[in-house]
Amino acid sequence: MNLGFLASGRGSNMQAVIDACKRGELAATPRVVISNNSASGALERARQEGIPAYHLSSHTHGEGLDEAILETLRRHEAQLVVLAGYMKKLGPRTLAAYRNRIVNIHPALLPKFGGQGMYGMNVHQAVIAAGERETGVTIHLVDEEYDHGATLAQARVPVLPGDTPETLARRVLEREHTFLVETLGRIVRGELPLD
Ligand code: GRF
Repeated sequence: MNLGFLASGRGSNMQAVIDACKRGELAATPRVVISNNSASGALERARQEGIPAYHLSSHTHGEGLDEAILETLRRHEAQLVVLAGYMKKLGPRTLAAYRNRIVNIHPALLPKFGGQGMYGMNVHQAVIAAGERETGVTIHLVDEEYDHGATLAQARVPVLPGDTPETLARRVLEREHTFLVETLGRIVRGELPLD
C-alpha cells in the first residue's frame, strides 16, 4: 500500500513507519511527504530517506493549497494518508478525494483531551492536571474537525505518580511509534476496515 504523510514537526512517528517499511515489517511504501513547515524535521527526514518531500502551505499556495496537496498525493499515488503531527486542517477536496483514507495519530484517549489547542505538551499537561491515571494513543479517521473522526484503535498508557508532562510525553511517544506501525499493519492487511 502506498503511503503519503503530512507532518508539521519532528516527524518521529513518520520515521517509525518508514523504518518498519524498510525492515519489511509493514507491507507499505512511503511515497510522499508534505509539510506546511519548511524547517520541519519531517521534511529533513524524508529527504534523507530519498522520499519526495514538499513544503506546501498557505504561504506558498494560498487559496490553492487544498488542490496542491491533493494533486501531490495523487501524483505520487498515495493510497492511504497518514497525518503524523500535522497541525493544520485539510481542505474539502482532499478530504472528499481521500474519504476514509486519511488517519491521524493523537497522544491521548480521544474524545478526551482533543480538539483545537490540544497538541504537543498541552495534551500531557491537561491529562496530569485532570488527575487521570491513564492516558494513551488514538488513531482515528480524519474529517473537517480537529481530532474528531471515527476512532480506529486505541492503546492505553499509564500515568505514573510523579509524572511530569515531559516524562508522560516520552512514555506516550514511545507507545505511539509501535502502535502506529501495528495499526497501519492491521489496515494494510485488511484486518481493520476503514469504511
Ligand atoms: C505526536 O504526539 C502525535 O500524536 C501528534 O503530534 C506528535 C507528532 O510527533 N499528532 P512526531 O512529529 O511524530 O515526532
